[in-house]
Amino acid sequence: MGSGIAETVAVSGFTVVLRSRTQSAADATVASLEQSLNRKVEKGKRTDTERDEALARVTATSELAALEDVDLVIESVVEDIDVKKELFSRLDRVTPDHAILATNTSTLPVVELAMQTSRPDKVCGLHFFNPAPVMDLVELVNPLTASDETISAARLFAEECGKTPIEVKDQAGFIVNALLFPYLNNAVRLYEQRMASVDDIDTAMRGGCGFPMGPFALLDLVGLDTSLAILDALYDEFRDPNYAAVPLLRRMVTAELLGRKSGRGFFDYPK
Ligand code: 3HC
Repeated sequence: MGSGIAETVAVSGFTVVLRSRTQSAADATVASLEQSLNRKVEKGKRTDTERDEALARVTATSELAALEDVDLVIESVVEDIDVKKELFSRLDRVTPDHAILATNTSTLPVVELAMQTSRPDKVCGLHFFNPAPVMDLVELVNPLTASDETISAARLFAEECGKTPIEVKDQAGFIVNALLFPYLNNAVRLYEQRMASVDDIDTAMRGGCGFPMGPFALLDLVGLDTSLAILDALYDEFRDPNYAAVPLLRRMVTAELLGRKSGRGFFDYPK
């Protein structure tokens, strides 16, 4: 998601500091952003100049201190509340007092991240969808602690990125994932029950519902580990059996069959 969000923001004219834990990871993220822009140039959707200007706005770094001048942070690290909490407390120390700290979390409580900082009024969620440069929606998560000014500024930013923001409550899964993940989980259940093959279930949902991707192609795109983390967070919040991850999904994550990112999930993705 980091690469897709950085691409979206940079092509919209903003300067981006892309920070990862290591310089090589940051460079790889920018390389994937460049590849995505190159594909658009090849298709005639962007000019060489637009690509070069967008790339020139992006700096890759491993230093958190490089965020000392930013106006807005969009955190998109692993879906682990402890990792995010620690990062928010560090971000609070290195970023300017006026900066808004936003999280791209899919399900975790934004208020918990806000309370790690000395500026809970300036913390909110900006939840982009995968692939971020293509998907129109941003869920703007308004925790109990956020000020109206923060929510207005975050909404304006999302609009300036060409997205349609909708304001949502700080509740696990917000709108999209609360509706989408029971469906994806039930697709795995049908497959586990030998109802049909993954190909046939995907064909059914593309052909029968007009979805651009079937559930298994989508699980592989999102990542099985991320999908499991989302289901676990939904289950933790609501204790609704509908959100209890199907055992096969958990086993596949243990086996590191994570989807596109690992080269294999429900389908194979040769490198
Ligand atoms: N990065 C940037 N651009 C991408 C891209 C990527 N990873 N993947 C595709 N694109 C662009 C292509 O360049 C193309 O652009 P163009 O129309 O300007 O030429 C456009 O998307 C369409 O791509 P393709 O023609 O290659 O392929 P498709 O028509 O099959 O579309 C898709 C691919 C956009 C991924 C489409 O299948 C789709 O919309 N799938 C559903 C995705 C979805 O449901 N996302 C939500 C996931 S849930 C989520 O993100 C929440 C999180 O919390 C987990």
